[in-house]
Amino acid sequence: MIPNTMKAMVLTGHGDVDKLEYKDVPVPAPGAGQVLVQVTATAKNNTDRKAREGLYPTKKGEMTSFQMGGKPTLVFPRIQGADIAGRVVAVGDGVDESRIGERGLLDFNIYANDRRDINLTPDYYGHGADGGYAEYVALPADQFHHIPNAELADAEVASMGMCSYQTAMHMLTSANIKAGERVLVTGASGGVGTALIQLCRIMGAIPYALSKQDKAAALLELGAEAVLDRSDMDSFVDRVKAETGGKPIDAVMDLV
Ligand SMILES: NC(=O)c1ccc[n+]([C@@H]2O[C@H](COP(=O)([O-])OP(=O)(O)OC[C@H]3O[C@@H](n4cnc5c(N)ncnc54)[C@H](OP(=O)(O)O)[C@@H]3O)[C@@H](O)[C@H]2O)c1
Repeated sequence: MIPNTMKAMVLTGHGDVDKLEYKDVPVPAPGAGQVLVQVTATAKNNTDRKAREGLYPTKKGEMTSFQMGGKPTLVFPRIQGADIAGRVVAVGDGVDESRIGERGLLDFNIYANDRRDINLTPDYYGHGADGGYAEYVALPADQFHHIPNAELADAEVASMGMCSYQTAMHMLTSANIKAGERVLVTGASGGVGTALIQLCRIMGAIPYALSKQDKAAALLELGAEAVLDRSDMDSFVDRVKAETGGKPIDAVMDLV
């Protein structure tokens, strides 16, 4: 039984956490092509904080968020929360009822057009439309992806880092990386760097990490072919050649 109202954390304006209000709001109805998701976990994305604080100015001193088409799509009140895991509890027109009960993760982009490989106007659920800091959210059925993996808890699914993996994927596809190619990843221990290392391995590419020595073991375990210590850049080229057996690095994913 889906209630008429739900608890939500509602953003009332740009600023500190005092701009967030925990209150009762109507449960959204799924429109055509949408699913209604009962939210079981929403990760806190750094972009949620920066958007709340208005840290995406177009002019110096401005407190605002991304401005698509010249004006911000983050309008108030807004329910933030981009990284949403949950279960489908209802479907809108045109969506198969077999989706009900499905556990999934949102591709949070609000796409500007039909392209799905990249979204050049950064807008997303929790920004230009309501997101997951609530009990329920209405989302496009084709962007709520089934994640059956029983070994992953809902909170783990939500915190997978949709943003960092998507960023890493776009970097790799933009560079047209192919299986067998050698890819150097700077800032390798960070969110995007660790995603790049794993995605390289999935694609069959060979990732080399530039990082710090104390992170080497973890990066090797994650899939790095070798870890180069960034505290010694004088011998960098020689060390790269030693690690690749003199073969070239095909692409550099520079995160720093
Ligand atoms: N996370 C996302 O979803 C996302 C999306 C779009 C764009 N971006 C952008 O991508 C870049 C990386 O993001 P991230 O989330 O991966 O950041 P992060 O998790 O903070 O990682 C950054 C990494 O850079 C390295 N680093 C930090 N300070 C350094 C310094 N002074 N000199 C050299 N290396 C240093 C560190 O790796 P090592 O110690 O291993 O060298 C650190 O782990 C940022 O510019 C971010 O704005 C991120």
